[in-house]
Amino acid sequence: MTENWVHIPIMAPQIADLLLTQPGGVYVDGTLGLGGHTKYFLSRLGPQARILGFDKDAEALRMAVERVNDPRLTVFHESYTQAPQELQKLGLSGADGALFDLGLSSYQLDNPVRGFSIVHDGPLDMRFDRQNPLSAEVIVNTWPMAELERILKDFGEERQATPIALAIMQARRQGKIATTGQLAKIVEGVYGGRRGKTHPATQTFQALRIACNGELDAVQQALNSLEQIVRPGGRAAVLTFHSLEDRLVKNRFKELAKSGAWKLVNKHALAPEYEEVRQNRRARSAKLRVIERM
Ligand SMILES: C[S@@+](CC[C@H](N)C(=O)[O-])C[C@H]1O[C@@H](n2cnc3c(N)ncnc32)[C@H](O)[C@@H]1O
Repeated sequence: MTENWVHIPIMAPQIADLLLTQPGGVYVDGTLGLGGHTKYFLSRLGPQARILGFDKDAEALRMAVERVNDPRLTVFHESYTQAPQELQKLGLSGADGALFDLGLSSYQLDNPVRGFSIVHDGPLDMRFDRQNPLSAEVIVNTWPMAELERILKDFGEERQATPIALAIMQARRQGKIATTGQLAKIVEGVYGGRRGKTHPATQTFQALRIACNGELDAVQQALNSLEQIVRPGGRAAVLTFHSLEDRLVKNRFKELAKSGAWKLVNKHALAPEYEEVRQNRRARSAKLRVIERM
């Protein structure tokens, strides 16, 4: 039975318009999630089309296969950084299009068991791939102060990185920090409580999630291997949700365009329409960049 989790694919019609240039083509969905984009893409593609869907999250893949329920989809339980190797194994020199919808899905965020949520208490987990030995709990309870400070600064752009790292070190001396609620309270303590709409631990949670899943390294690796993922004439689309990701994409796309081997499909990042943001809060920070291989 398909669980009731909802994940509304962001900017799906706009992405399909820009990415699906060959009705019978081969496409890579690097971040299949619950299959929202893929399902929509398949509704606009022909019977010969194929989508290769990647996700590190085995549960998400299982749900995506059930939801999409289409023989044109083949799934891979691995990082999208493996896309070049998988394409090669299939005898393909590249795809006609590739989508990377970065970050985490609403299913992961809203499911307390996965430990991504500040508002729903759960185990301090945050792994996309539950076979990954590095959970947020391991980082928070065993990494040295300097490392905690570094990830809070580099992956969270957290201005209170030093006091938060110190508060974590002090708290863990009293016993294990095992839940998202405990961590949220520690950060709240540093900020002297909650003010405004955004929880003070938002940046801390982002930093831990990125560190735990090696997110920025994966993005950079995929951006560096786009030539092995997209064939000439094909396109790559990336949806980002925070400035760290967007900066990597923007800079790499600029370099590729400068080389003359690629051209920017949209000069500036595209954003969702007002109506989409009204209906789906997760869309509010989305930025879409698309590039075409010459
Ligand atoms: C924003 S969601 C994708 C949602 C999807 N587009 C949909 O419409 O249902 C991002 C997904 O990417 C996965 N993910 C994150 N990093 C990944 C990586 N390096 N390789 C493969 N999947 C990854 C996450 O597990 C998550 O399921």
